Amino acid sequence: MRESIKVVVTGGAGYIGSHTCLELLKEGYEVVVVDNLANSSSESIKRVQEIANKKIEFHQVDVRDREKLSAIFNEHKKGENKSSIKGVIHFAGLKAVGESVRIPLDYYSNNITGTLSLLEVMKSHGVKNLVFSSSATVYGEPKTLPIKEDFPLSVTNPYGRTKLMIEEILKDLHASDPSWNIALLRYFNPVGADRSGKIGEDPFGIPNNLFPYIAQVAVGRLPFLNIFGDDYHTKYNTKDGTGVRDFIHVSDLALGHIKALPKLFTNSGLVIYNLGTGKGSSVMELLRAFEAASGRKIPFKIAPRRAGDIAACYADPSKAQKELNWIATRTIEDMCRDTWNWQKNNPNGFKKGD
Ligand code: NAD
Ligand code: UFG
Repeated sequence: MRESIKVVVTGGAGYIGSHTCLELLKEGYEVVVVDNLANSSSESIKRVQEIANKKIEFHQVDVRDREKLSAIFNEHKKGENKSSIKGVIHFAGLKAVGESVRIPLDYYSNNITGTLSLLEVMKSHGVKNLVFSSSATVYGEPKTLPIKEDFPLSVTNPYGRTKLMIEEILKDLHASDPSWNIALLRYFNPVGADRSGKIGEDPFGIPNNLFPYIAQVAVGRLPFLNIFGDDYHTKYNTKDGTGVRDFIHVSDLALGHIKALPKLFTNSGLVIYNLGTGKGSSVMELLRAFEAASGRKIPFKIAPRRAGDIAACYADPSKAQKELNWIATRTIEDMCRDTWNWQKNNPNGFKKGD
């Protein structure tokens, strides 16, 4: 039997992190999660272990705490019955665009300082394989669609700026020391939940994003959806004029990480991939699909455009298909079904007493 490969997952208790931990366990990886639970609950880790029937080593630690982080890497130095850490998937960070405009220093501290701390600790322990969670937000308002990895980059808010800055830091790091292997994965719009209905997106407070908002309207926690603009009429939009995004099932996204890791282990250097489906869907199409999946009417109001929103955004995911042999297979119907399954079984998310 091959020795199992151990990876650290920062932010592993969060939405995308928990789904990725599950796929890692299914694939036979050993998983060490580092999360300060700033935007998550350890219940997600518990449930991932239940679904996979395997253990995760969990540390409630802030990635900015170099001493504690370093102690975790030390603990895993190769010894008897121990394998050392082979790579890191770095999800930890803050991610709300609006909040980043209000409290930019928190974003720079968590995202930039947190990443620098992680990189220094990795370097001092000779661990040089990293997958980084980037975002399609780094493409700004694209001139044409679909978006390819070599499109020009620009950002309009502090959150996006942290993603772009970290990408640049990682490029500089790789240029200075090509023994680093780094995958910048640019996610489009992750939605949905694991098929089991046991884990899913559980935002604190009123959701900023479309899918959890719709799900909470469907379950009766919120009265109606505000659709931000129905006057986006560009050649890339659907007839209804609502915004268009590339919604990708979080389990497909998680599998993208499973494909990226072995690539790093072959000394790939620095690689960049879009993780999206390549298909754009409008907000109105989504709402109708969610109604069909849930059997519930979703009341909505047309509201003004949201500041900073772009009309349409979708990926050209062909590079990841060609080089990673990865493709998103789940449909909008799957995304709605699985989100609804999670939401109706857990109307209050991971909170006890459901
Ligand atoms: P999430 O908030 O559910 O998960 C992030 C996790 O990081 C949380 O569990 C949080 O507690 C933890 N965390 C935050 N700061 C930390 C710190 N300083 N130390 C340790 N842990 C910390 O968010 P998510 O949707 O799962 O996103 C994961 C990553 O993917 C983020 O980096 C995010 O920017 C990126 N991303 C998300 C989306 C999206 O739409 N969800 C899109 C593109 C990129
Ligand atoms: N929308 C509504 N009503 C809502 C919420 C959203 O109509 O209550 C609309 C938006 O106007 C947009 C679409 O639904 O047209 C998607 O909005 P989201 O907030 O779900 O997602 P965004 O595309 O704005 O942003 C997401 C992530 C960002 C990331 C960006 C690009 O939240 O972190 O994708 O990858 F930067």
